[in-house]
Amino acid sequence: MKRITFCAERLPNGEAVRPIPIDFDKSPHLICQGGTGTGKSVASLLTTAKISQLPGSQVFILDFKNDVDTFKFCHGKDCRYWRFRDCETGLEKYYNLLQDELASDEDCGPRPVRWLWIDELGSWLLNSDKKTADSIRAKIATILMMGRSRRFFVQTSVQRAQAELFSQGSRDNYSVCLGMGNLTKESASVLGFSRDEFLPITEIGGGHLIMGGRQYPVQIPYIGPRGMARMKEDILKALMRNDEN
Ligand SMILES: Nc1ncnc2c1ncn2[C@@H]1O[C@H](COP(=O)(O)OP(=O)(O)OP(=O)(O)O)[C@@H](O)[C@H]1O
Ligand SMILES: [Mg+2]
Repeated sequence: MKRITFCAERLPNGEAVRPIPIDFDKSPHLICQGGTGTGKSVASLLTTAKISQLPGSQVFILDFKNDVDTFKFCHGKDCRYWRFRDCETGLEKYYNLLQDELASDEDCGPRPVRWLWIDELGSWLLNSDKKTADSIRAKIATILMMGRSRRFFVQTSVQRAQAELFSQGSRDNYSVCLGMGNLTKESASVLGFSRDEFLPITEIGGGHLIMGGRQYPVQIPYIGPRGMARMKEDILKALMRNDEN
């Protein structure tokens, strides 16, 4: 895959210098953790916008919280965006698509990326009854464990990525972990961040990244209103794109 760059490594003086390109074919699935208001959704918009620019890519968004600030651009559009209780329908669609791919022995050549963004998984599970929550966790576990070879990738944002949100240890399949803001000791430990190496975060968009066994202090670029509008345009195209167009 063309490598995606959404953050740069920060030096101890705060300067963001070295862009960190990520190849999701090699490092599949991204988990983004951070307290409320630390920039998870903006960071996720940026990665999704970059994925949306890949030829043929298809985006799916599940927004349980119905975050109008972030997702108003999807409202009223005929696209793969679901909110609140409808998220179950969206997950089911994505899961069934993967099942179809797994069952097929057709060699249809290089596959387009199917990118599933689940915003605020923790709130979704917390507000679902046990049977529903178990079914959500089971589907996500399958996608995390079996999606990579079919280029089904998941980006999940959570306030804290505790193991109970995932079944069968499937959380370990997130190869890229982004921790936004100043993580508490407890939330740093759940994804294996070492706080010894933490530089304090002073700017919005600051955080830490774990990839390939390494931890980096990182900065997501500041995105102004025009950049935000452009990203949303790109995402909307990929939310509507199907196999024919
Ligand atoms: N990279 C950025 N560039 C510009 N503004 C940003 C950036 N990151 C965050 N912000 C600003 O901070 C606000 C909060 O960010 P965001 O909504 O991404 O946080 P969050 O962690 O998803 O919070 P929540 O828990 O409320 O969903 C945004 O509305 C935006 O104004
Ligand atoms: Mg958010």
